[in-house]
Amino acid sequence: MKKIGFSTKAIHAGHDHNTHGTLATPIYQSSTFIFDNAEQGGRRFSLEEEGYIYTRLGNPTTKVLEEKLASLENADGCIATSSGMGAITTAFWSVLKQGDHIVSDNNLYGCTFAYFTHGLSKFGVDITFVDASNPENVRRAVKANTKVIYCESPTNPSLKLVDIKALGDIANEIDAYLIVDNTFATPYLTKPMDLGAHIVIHSGTKYLNGHGDVICGLICAKNELLNDIRYVGLKDMTGAVMSPFDSFLVIRGMKTLGLRMKQHCENAQKVAEYLENHPKIKRVYYPGLTSHPQHELAKKQMKLPGAIISFELNGGINEGKALINSTKMCKLAVSLGDLETLIQHPASMTHSTYTQEERLAAGISDELIRISVGLEDVDDIIEDLEQALNNI
Ligand SMILES: Cc1ncc(COP(=O)(O)O)c(C=O)c1O
Repeated sequence: MKKIGFSTKAIHAGHDHNTHGTLATPIYQSSTFIFDNAEQGGRRFSLEEEGYIYTRLGNPTTKVLEEKLASLENADGCIATSSGMGAITTAFWSVLKQGDHIVSDNNLYGCTFAYFTHGLSKFGVDITFVDASNPENVRRAVKANTKVIYCESPTNPSLKLVDIKALGDIANEIDAYLIVDNTFATPYLTKPMDLGAHIVIHSGTKYLNGHGDVICGLICAKNELLNDIRYVGLKDMTGAVMSPFDSFLVIRGMKTLGLRMKQHCENAQKVAEYLENHPKIKRVYYPGLTSHPQHELAKKQMKLPGAIISFELNGGINEGKALINSTKMCKLAVSLGDLETLIQHPASMTHSTYTQEERLAAGISDELIRISVGLEDVDDIIEDLEQALNNI
């Protein structure tokens, strides 16, 4: 059978075949749904009958989004949440119990790191952080009670890659779950489910929505996990449900995900090469550069190398601050994956949840600057960086 292309799926998957034949997905802005009779209400609650009950348990607009992402990730199903952190916490509360152990890569988005170290550890969950770019480090950290192996790839903010297939194999050997945060790559670049992940997390706030106007998250999972994540983790534990209006916006954003990612990556490759050749720059971290230690893995695991770049300037933190204070078109803001190029300083912003010692152990230096390369004309992005670099 002919395989359906990525953008065709992004546009059509999950379409809502409603009685009016709308082309765009309607916003079903309703908190609750009317049952025909008491018996039907009971059957819906016991999951004997499909259908809607209450928007915290499912909503027809959100369902379109969930089916679209499940189709793009080759997942059995998907559950939308009100933020990326809502997706992470919902997934973990669903699969863990007191006494379980997690092996996690040490380079994580700051709030995920904080959830592990300040949140989960209070509830009797044990976490070991390792450099998961070497799968042997993960294997060595496994214990009898290891329930989850966790990573991002590429990682935020160091752009390290993790060999997802190798970690999936370890998880299967020890009967644990591999959970991958695929926010930076998106399914356009990497499909962790095809490589052995059991759960894939997204901050949909980023590339999936792509327009900087929604906070949202998504959890893709294997069939056997879906009911627990939706009807225990999301319904009873976090309640972090996505609103129908936000679902509508993300559906609209996702239709152009393939087009946007292609252009984001093309721009980023040029910006990374420009930065790497600049005399004021000490080191550039970008999987598309041959100098990246995992450039070969990037070619194998990613369709294109992504559009986030981190770099260190000669000098240090003061030069970095001067640079981000001097850009004009590139905006000084956290978040990533938007149309606008965004530049920020992880140590004092997105990764300030780490102590300096923890950050350095994770390879996040104080002078590291992160850029999310946007969709402006690339010559304009480079010109803005050039004038900012001339200022320091
Ligand atoms: C890799 C990654 N995962 C998760 C999150 C959390 O997502 P949200 O801000 O949508 O809660 C972020 C946010 O920056 C992120 O970069």
